[in-house]
Amino acid sequence: DLKQIAVDGEPGLATYDPGFVNTASCRSAITYIDGDAGILEYRGYPIEQLAESSTFLEVAYLLLNGELPNSAQLEQWTHDITFHTFLHENIKTFIEGFRYDAHPMGMTMAAIAALSTFYPDARDIGDPDNRKLQATRLIAKMPTLGAFAFRHGQGKPYVYPDNELSYVDNFLAMLFKMSERKYDADPRLSRALEILFILHADHEQNCSANAVRSVGSSGVDPYSAIAAGVGALYGPLHGGANEAVLRMLRRIGDVSNIPEFIEGVKAGNERLMGFGHRVYKNYDPRAKIIKQAADGVFEVTGVNPLLKIALELEKIALEDEYFVSRKLYPNVDFYSGLIYEALQFPPEMFTVLFAIGRMPGWLAQWEELSGDKEQKIARPKQVYTGARTRDFVPIDKR
Ligand code: ACO
Repeated sequence: DLKQIAVDGEPGLATYDPGFVNTASCRSAITYIDGDAGILEYRGYPIEQLAESSTFLEVAYLLLNGELPNSAQLEQWTHDITFHTFLHENIKTFIEGFRYDAHPMGMTMAAIAALSTFYPDARDIGDPDNRKLQATRLIAKMPTLGAFAFRHGQGKPYVYPDNELSYVDNFLAMLFKMSERKYDADPRLSRALEILFILHADHEQNCSANAVRSVGSSGVDPYSAIAAGVGALYGPLHGGANEAVLRMLRRIGDVSNIPEFIEGVKAGNERLMGFGHRVYKNYDPRAKIIKQAADGVFEVTGVNPLLKIALELEKIALEDEYFVSRKLYPNVDFYSGLIYEALQFPPEMFTVLFAIGRMPGWLAQWEELSGDKEQKIARPKQVYTGARTRDFVPIDKR
């Protein structure tokens, strides 16, 4: 939609594009998506290969630095991340201050914003080494923050990081450890969670990455910019969809209720959560990998009874003209919640897991923005539709 709009009294041509459906806000060399073909690549590497063969920290390094690390680089990177896993004790107190039923995403978002006050050095965003230090801190502290938020909701004491464990095993230990004994995560479950983190690590200019870039373009510190990204991810149309999917499946309750539910969706009463995507007009490649990973998890945990409903919903939707004509396919969130639930996470934790996985992507986007000389402060135009100049009316005349 091109519309002639007046800017400061000057006529000019601008694009009216609510939701940036057809507007590139930046140049980026991080993630490539072909939504029609269902292709996703990080720095040129297909997501299928990364999910099969890499670790989350390797992928984080790749996103941030542009290349996969060699052995020495990976060792140094793993050391740096491990070194920064602890949170300042006052952040623990900060989390303790929330209500018992506070949503973990709210706590995580607030705690990340609060971290900006603990690292005032982060405001020096012109120094690449300093930016790298802040990125390392954020990736390292995210699992600790997520685990503290989780245990707060459960009323259980917080578990400090165990730096002898891998990134994912340490996270699982901080979540589920219940005694002094070392926590031994089942390697199959740990690998499934690692794959989920890899699949979520970046997705180019999605709503939260755009929020990080938009806020970051003001020159603010990365904690504040990332907190904005966490806020965007919290929404049910974005990362919050994984939680919404599980609640939807629970509400449907039985396969026999699916036809009535689908009719309601087609009538516009609600959306089929976990379906549809702004970019993918084909099966989301991440959803395919998640479906396979789910089988591995269910071998350990037993099959999630909601799987039957999800499979049937997918089958019906993929044959229904409403979904077919609109190219609505399962997205990354459709099956991830089933795995998270099998791993003993309550639904309100699902989006926190997404946020932990997405952190390297947000930071890579922020790093790219910081080094991009062409990038200006994000400041879209508007098409003004309100009243024009009129005289103030005193209150007794209104
Ligand atoms: N269920 C039912 N109908 C849908 C759905 C859905 N999940 N998604 C889109 N549609 C319909 C819309 O009603 C619209 O129909 P119309 O043309 O008759 O009006 C058409 O499909 C196009 O939908 P838009 O909202 O214009 O598509 P958009 O690209 O703006 O939205 C979005 C993409 C937000 C993901 C949407 O598909 C949606 O709401 N899905 C459900 C929520 C969800 O799963 N979000 C997670 C996305 S993945 C992620 O963020 C990690």
